[in-house]
Amino acid sequence: MDKQEIKNRIEKLKKEINHHRYLYHVLDKHEISDAALDSLKNELFRLEMDNPEFITPDSPTQRVGGEPLDRFVKVQHSVQMISLFDAFSRDDIFAWEKRLKRIKSIPFEYFAELKLDGLAMSLRYEKNIFKIGATRGDGMVGEDVTQNLKTIESIPLELRVPNENELREIGLSGFQIKKVVQTIKNGTIEVRGEAIMNKKVFDELNKRYKKEGKPVLANSRNGAAGSIRQLNPALAAERKLDFYVYELVTDFGFERHEQKLQLAHLLGFRVLRQIKFCRSLKEVFNFYEKWLQKRNELPFEIDGVVVKVNNLKLWPILGHVGKGPRFMMAYKFPAEQVTSKVEDVVWQVGRTGTLTPIAVLIPVRVGGVTVSHATLHNMDEIFRLGIKIGDTVILERAGDVIPKVIQVLPNLRTGREKEIQVPKKCHVCGGGIERLKNEVAYRCINKNCFAVTLRNLSHWTSRGAMDIEGLGPKIVEQLVKEGLVSDIADFYSLTAGDLKPLERFAEKSSENLIKAIANKKEIPLVKFIIGLGIRHVGEETALLLVKQFLIFNSQFSNNFQFPISQFLKYFLNLKKEDLENIPDIGPVVAESLFEWFRNEKNVEILNKLQKNGVALKVERKSKKQALEGKKFVLTGSLNSLTRNEAKAKIRELGGEMSSAVSSKTDYVIVGDNPGSKYDKAKKLGIEILNEDKFQKLITHNS
Ligand code: IVH
Repeated sequence: MDKQEIKNRIEKLKKEINHHRYLYHVLDKHEISDAALDSLKNELFRLEMDNPEFITPDSPTQRVGGEPLDRFVKVQHSVQMISLFDAFSRDDIFAWEKRLKRIKSIPFEYFAELKLDGLAMSLRYEKNIFKIGATRGDGMVGEDVTQNLKTIESIPLELRVPNENELREIGLSGFQIKKVVQTIKNGTIEVRGEAIMNKKVFDELNKRYKKEGKPVLANSRNGAAGSIRQLNPALAAERKLDFYVYELVTDFGFERHEQKLQLAHLLGFRVLRQIKFCRSLKEVFNFYEKWLQKRNELPFEIDGVVVKVNNLKLWPILGHVGKGPRFMMAYKFPAEQVTSKVEDVVWQVGRTGTLTPIAVLIPVRVGGVTVSHATLHNMDEIFRLGIKIGDTVILERAGDVIPKVIQVLPNLRTGREKEIQVPKKCHVCGGGIERLKNEVAYRCINKNCFAVTLRNLSHWTSRGAMDIEGLGPKIVEQLVKEGLVSDIADFYSLTAGDLKPLERFAEKSSENLIKAIANKKEIPLVKFIIGLGIRHVGEETALLLVKQFLIFNSQFSNNFQFPISQFLKYFLNLKKEDLENIPDIGPVVAESLFEWFRNEKNVEILNKLQKNGVALKVERKSKKQALEGKKFVLTGSLNSLTRNEAKAKIRELGGEMSSAVSSKTDYVIVGDNPGSKYDKAKKLGIEILNEDKFQKLITHNS
């Protein structure tokens, strides 16, 4: 995007975010989820960070909360209700600790709590009695929702007065104990916490609403928000809410954050039991992972954990920046709804010839994985969504299932979006397209089309061409069926996140396959030509073509890397006669080559390969020196030859032997009873050859 485009995008995002915030905060309405809105806010935040000249005071990134509603009485907060900064990864948390240590270079201890997904509330008690409960509003002024909060049974209307022993047990001094008791009885105590709707209440309520034909609640957070904003407290009471305290505003000079929670508990509040004192970030990460796994077992929704510096004496030293405190961080769970942009729509041909539109997206992380494709199912779904190429869309990934596009945000359009067209011809076989009566789907009329796709793709990944490990015909078929791959260039835009939800793929195997593909992104020209699967063009013709190509590009040295466009330009300039004049190439082969390069679809795929990071190289070496420059390490004993014989073979082919594994090692040959070199090789992701593979490598190159 150029500067003007960035500015336009920022303006559009601000408008869209403000629109949804108004709906949410003022009208209690929702068009998109909180997670999707967060995703838009993140994009805006990032754009503004990179282009600070476009930050304006009215940007949604520049304020704390929403405006208070007019229909409730406004309440001035005694201490501003601030918000938290978000972290999305361990790196973010490490960076946070680093910033803390820059201010005070000491070992930090933390307190980790669940991050409840509800609404922040401030409760004020005067002389022991619940007086005012308020929403956050804009952080300075909130809305008085006392009547509704009084319907929540976990909010005490009168504070419990703890006895001296109880207060001593939580580590309070005699002076502090006196102060606490006096303040409860005669002063003001203020706590903050989260009003939430438990999952069970949410489910029952929605069941009832459905039966009564009323609109259902989008999620439990919205359920809680709707309840708090009821003008009629009787209706609020009907939606039974719960309340957990996470902060004591009144200052009694405590040492540790956990004492605040302990006192809140003694005062009669519900506090979270899922909390943990953490001596280091390692323990914080354990807490996070544990609840990420077990969140389904909880009676309420959480969207992450909150990490707090436990030593309260450090809080004023660390202070605040912008909208939030430095001494706390919201470590969010991976979002399950995000926004992304549709870059293209490709058509995948199924086994029966059915065409399925697939949205190609700018890669985004959703639910912990990166995703770059989503099925659009059929034309009816495209109409239902109203989706165009170039649109910003909301993508959802629920649990471990394949992500789907659930909504388009038309307000973010630039006017350059393109309608999605049903192709006139099948891109795989050139066959016609038809829509059968009473069917949603379009089909390619060529019955063999799917087989042709599979054959072409499997040929590309096969031993004789790219030789991509783990990408045999079965997996290729699976990827085609899932709509992830429809031409050879698609292999190179796959992400581990695309593969993980598929049957037969676990986290490790997904990553391994992506690595195997990435390792073969620099393709020897001869293999490339073979892989294209041009009719009548096998290895021999490919070698002839490479030879010819090198005559015209004599400046290319061994292993010289060049872009696919250079190869394409060379072929597009060749006339049919030029091709026929290449020694040993006959008219049939020349015709086939000529036609292949004149096919628009093929040119498109070559361009797409280049866009996806594929490049070409030439290998001028003689076959005998095929392992030239490759570094080998041998561990364990081989059966068919001695170590010395193996070394001699490698050296004969130009390879080098070394004794230790390092990142410079190309291959580790692993025999029986291998040593620690094997483990190191695995750790470094170095290609491992068992005896069988090693033999094949040698015979293949001798
Ligand atoms: S401490 C500075 N602890 O998350 C505000 N907040 O994204 C003090 N939240 O506004 C926040 N669980 O509404 C804290 N255990 C917890 C929390 C929690 C949920 C909410 C809170 C806050 C928001 C920030």
